[in-house]
Amino acid sequence: MKVTIFNGSPRGRKSNSHLIVEPLLEGAREAGAETEEVFLVEKDIEHCRGCFACWGKTPGICAIKDDMAGLLDLLLESDYAGMAAPVYGMYMPGLLKNFYDRFLPLATPYIYRNDDGSFYHEGRVKRFPRQFFIFNSGFPGKHNFDLLRAYVEMVKRGGPDRVVLEIYRNCGEALGVPDEGPPPEVLQKIAGFKDALRQAGRETVTTGQVCRETVDQLHVELMSDEEYMAGANKHWDRVIAESE
Ligand SMILES: Cc1cc2nc3c(=O)[nH]c(=O)nc-3n(C[C@H](O)[C@H](O)[C@H](O)COP(=O)(O)O)c2cc1C
Repeated sequence: MKVTIFNGSPRGRKSNSHLIVEPLLEGAREAGAETEEVFLVEKDIEHCRGCFACWGKTPGICAIKDDMAGLLDLLLESDYAGMAAPVYGMYMPGLLKNFYDRFLPLATPYIYRNDDGSFYHEGRVKRFPRQFFIFNSGFPGKHNFDLLRAYVEMVKRGGPDRVVLEIYRNCGEALGVPDEGPPPEVLQKIAGFKDALRQAGRETVTTGQVCRETVDQLHVELMSDEEYMAGANKHWDRVIAESE
């Protein structure tokens, strides 16, 4: 079984997204899966040109010759494919959006209607990996992921089993080790969050789903909104003072 996660943070290997992906894949490996994390920022991925050559002139094949064809092969040979990224402007960073735009060769041009009145293009490939969505925000609170949740709901319309796990981790900047060092009770909660990630990875590989209890542990509050704001604002006071 192959589990691949595409990390769409511009920070790549130094990202908070990576701090979330690492334990998840560790759990998947413990359960016997082959795993890979792909850092999109290290790849050559041009913007989609909107030429539709992949629908007309060369069906299924993009006109742009960069790393994308290889990445789509990797996606399609995976049993589970995850996308991990920070919230940017209440949505996903351009790096991940750009990657998604380049999925166009995987769809056919014809338009169909869903029962709920929305529309879709049928996939060109018969087997698509089941998916993870892993997002982290720099804000505390509950509303950072509203647009991303809407995006994931759209993916789920493709079939009830399409999405195996969704992680919406607020207070993302607490995951790294800020210079001030978070208080011990927060460190303990972060350790619990990472244990839950390992558990989610194991459950995915062994049962094909992640149980409610694990999902709840993944969304446990790391600290109060006020504590997070105070820590973050203090951090920026210091960074700005040091640069003066
Ligand atoms: C250009 C930019 C836009 C951002 N927009 C948001 C936002 O709308 N909401 C939010 O909660 N955090 C926002 N953030 C903060 C990031 O989501 C946060 O720093 C995150 O932990 C970074 O994760 P990463 O290390 O995986 O990239 C933004 C950061 C940048 C650089």
